[in-house]
Amino acid sequence: MSCVPLRACRDRPQLHSPCVLHEVWDPLDPRRNPAKSDPALDRRDHRRSTDPTELKGKCAVPLTCMPTYLPFNEGDIGGRGKQLNVTSLCSARCHGVKARAAQADASFMVPTSWSRAVAQPGAGDRPGGQKPLRRKDDQWLDRWLQTCADLARLQYSHPMVDAVIDEVDGRMIRVGDRWLADFASCNYLGLDLDSEIIGAVQGYLERWGTHPSWSRLLGSPVLYRQLEEQLAELLGSEDTLVLPTITHIHMSVIPVLAGSGSIFLDGRAHKTVYDGCAIARGHGATVHRFRHGDSEELGRLLEKRRTGPRVICMDGINSMTGNAPDLPEFARLAREHEALLYVDDAHGFGMIGERASDELCAYGNRGNGIVRHTGETYENIVLVAGLSKAYSSLAAFLALPTHLKEILKTAAPPYLYSGPSPVASLATAIEGLRVNALRGDRLRHEVYRMTLRVLEALKARGIHTTNTSGYPIIEIPLADPADIDEVGLHLFERGIYVTMAAYPLVPRHQVGFRIQLTAANTDEQVEHLIEVLSELSTRFQMPDRNNPLRLLNRS
Ligand SMILES: Cc1ncc(COP(=O)(O)O)c(C=O)c1O
Repeated sequence: MSCVPLRACRDRPQLHSPCVLHEVWDPLDPRRNPAKSDPALDRRDHRRSTDPTELKGKCAVPLTCMPTYLPFNEGDIGGRGKQLNVTSLCSARCHGVKARAAQADASFMVPTSWSRAVAQPGAGDRPGGQKPLRRKDDQWLDRWLQTCADLARLQYSHPMVDAVIDEVDGRMIRVGDRWLADFASCNYLGLDLDSEIIGAVQGYLERWGTHPSWSRLLGSPVLYRQLEEQLAELLGSEDTLVLPTITHIHMSVIPVLAGSGSIFLDGRAHKTVYDGCAIARGHGATVHRFRHGDSEELGRLLEKRRTGPRVICMDGINSMTGNAPDLPEFARLAREHEALLYVDDAHGFGMIGERASDELCAYGNRGNGIVRHTGETYENIVLVAGLSKAYSSLAAFLALPTHLKEILKTAAPPYLYSGPSPVASLATAIEGLRVNALRGDRLRHEVYRMTLRVLEALKARGIHTTNTSGYPIIEIPLADPADIDEVGLHLFERGIYVTMAAYPLVPRHQVGFRIQLTAANTDEQVEHLIEVLSELSTRFQMPDRNNPLRLLNRS
């Protein structure tokens, strides 16, 4: 690989080539970015955004948004000749892989810790004799494969895992010759099957083709702007930024927000949040874990680390327990400590929303997510959510201040390098938001009603679930994790499809299965589910809901 001198890149900062060492210029500095020197743009925003004190040490952005350079190198990862983006390069490095540039020219290297370690010829030492922040080879991969062993076994052997779905009919699915009621779908509003939305997609395809194909930095169909504006209006946030998936967002945005500061990570945050934090650690951040939902422990950790960027990472509605954190308390702590609260509300967005006297159910109105549901503002909060669950589409977004959005447009690699959401996904998202405004509250009420029916049935049978919220994720742990195969088989044979919650998807003591309700499920399916759950409670040992450490009395 050869590197083009930085001078050449400066002349053509928007040209992309895998062998070019790109300059990421300050997106808010009109002198360096011609597009931003348009007098029509709001100058006040530019001034504000480049002020390093603007985010008051809450995140690393004021530092990282200053001109810096991203190398794009080949290394020893994944075999020679593969081109890697910086995120995957750093991710692998966190796990102990050695990466080095084939022919890097030191004069182009960036003055940041990770790029020195990764890209300098003969790499290794930093100036001053410091060793790079590189994890030692500690058999990480062996341990990780061992951790996933239960899941791998199920994947090979169990019809309920890694299944091929041959056909769908409403919320019934056919696997081979067996029809099953699907309680593993995240399409909470049932918009995947909505004929109005399906009918509208064709028109978008005719106007835009199937796929934009440009990375977003090169150009975005106006559909993106429409979607971002509509999302901002729904959420009540200053702005939104759409990227392909939540995973892309965590991997790229958490490192930018944290810089070399501190991350406080909820112990049961989603795996993709963990992975985003691991990448941030590879870039120099320190990660502190606190017990799931324990704001007191978080408060103590924050007390001890009062300087530098601090980012608190957690889930909104938890993807396994089905419960929500005490968001107002975490927001209060974030504000008190001038930290940033970064919330993944993949399962809340579309399902819970602002409270109102005329609401049809306790999920609230409009489905505009956990921040609005708890009556909070976005001060010190960055909300992340996706359209791939309630909205049945492939896209995700951040709710964030406009100046942070502008920074991420060059600092977050997926905006620069990743393929965009397909047109059909943008279309289903936009049409889904329209349907949400028209009848979303009624759909949510249906989900609420069916969820309560299942929860009441569990209560009547004494079956323990982690769900204390009434939201449509119902995890049922088993007393003996070893029963998971048999329990899954029973469900499958009785025509019920659920998510198998094997280790490490959940902690060992919560191994079991997860039921999700969507507006496209029917009362008939729900009654059949309840019948099968009753059978399980007599056939297998299950924890007692009144004392989950004891077994349910089966007499
Ligand atoms: C809480 C949470 N975050 C992130 C993700 C990943 O979302 P995406 O598919 O948009 O990357 C999921 C997927 O199930 C999730 O449940």
